[in-house]
Amino acid sequence: MPTSEAGSIRSAVSSDESGIPTGECHPRLARWTKSIRKSSLQEMLLTATRPGTVSFALGLPAPELFPAAALAKAAVDVLGHDPSALQYAPSLASLKRHIVEIMSMRGVACREAQIFLTAGAQQGMSLLARLLLNPGDKVIAEELIYTGFQQAIEPAEPCVLTVPTDRLTGMDVDAVELLLSSGERPAFIYSITDGHNPVGVSMSLDKRVRLVELARRYEVPIMEDDAYGFLSYDSAPLPPLRGIDPRWVLYIGSFSKILAPNLRIGWLIVPESLMDNLSIVKEGSDIDTATFSQRTVAAYLEGGHLPGHLRTLRAEYARRRAEMISALQEHFPPGIRWSVPSSGVFIWVNLGSGVDTSKLLKVALEKEKIAFIPGRAFEVRENHHAANCLRLNFSNCPASQITDGIMRLARLVKAEMA
Ligand SMILES: Cc1ncc(COP(=O)(O)O)c(C=O)c1O
Repeated sequence: MPTSEAGSIRSAVSSDESGIPTGECHPRLARWTKSIRKSSLQEMLLTATRPGTVSFALGLPAPELFPAAALAKAAVDVLGHDPSALQYAPSLASLKRHIVEIMSMRGVACREAQIFLTAGAQQGMSLLARLLLNPGDKVIAEELIYTGFQQAIEPAEPCVLTVPTDRLTGMDVDAVELLLSSGERPAFIYSITDGHNPVGVSMSLDKRVRLVELARRYEVPIMEDDAYGFLSYDSAPLPPLRGIDPRWVLYIGSFSKILAPNLRIGWLIVPESLMDNLSIVKEGSDIDTATFSQRTVAAYLEGGHLPGHLRTLRAEYARRRAEMISALQEHFPPGIRWSVPSSGVFIWVNLGSGVDTSKLLKVALEKEKIAFIPGRAFEVRENHHAANCLRLNFSNCPASQITDGIMRLARLVKAEMA
């Protein structure tokens, strides 16, 4: 096109000073997007990384504990030996073999053919939600739950039947039974059995046994999110639901919290009959799980590093947990309750009535540069019943900063309560 012609077309379109056309289009969005809430966790990711902020906000692993040297060696070996690690490829059988071994450490017996590789637990739950949910279907979940789960199911605009969470024993299984026995038949029950996000609780053994029994009796699948199950700190951890009775449990696992989140590798353990459908849904989303990441993780596991690395993580996170609990005991006013998690990376604090933790967060960021997540962010029903609660993360903050951060937060809490 002659430049003069191009110039006259351009001049008909208004543009900013760098010549980029202004006035973007506003396409009509799908109906389900109307209920989208801004993700407070994404916003927090920006705020919490501001220099000088002590962040107890997000569930991030400790970056200084990433096994960077061993992963770097694994990555170099992979690329040095086979450039096709950068190619589209089917899921890596050797990685599935390693996952079978890892799962046996977790008390779950499974076969390679039942493992479906994903780009993290988040994608695992999204894919399952797409397979299991018709628009408007019902699901059972706890009143307070991981926000990523809410985002994963949102496109189907499901009706979420909520049940409470006991801070010592986990999901209220009586409430689940009441729903099922009164005739509700949800597409699935969502359970974070260990290291609950956000409540920090692990489900008691008798509830685990009862929940899988209910799933079997009423033929309702459980979507078990085990993102934190390998991070256990006290006595021998309990098996996940899938380890108690595999028949109605669709298990979601991930390397995010035990290796590094940006590898974006997770897995599902599901009936073989679901594999073809899962592959099709995943293909429509991201074609395949990054080959290079899969190969790097497999080479790392082949080197036998994982058990030692898990011991390091558990020891250091247990130290940080202890540091945070003793700082809470020492500096928070009496009468305030918090969970003592036996696994995972979160402590749930209930400040009692009269304190709104969303307001407290604004003051905490401005005055003391302390970040946490207010309880309301996790409410499924947005009824403010957790407005006086907050979630603290202890994995991402060096032990040396934890006491000082909790002391500063306690100062604000005392002022707020006064
Ligand atoms: C309960 C829970 N499930 C799933 C995820 C997502 O994990 P991934 O990085 O494996 O997608 C998270 C992340 O924080 C989480 O807290």
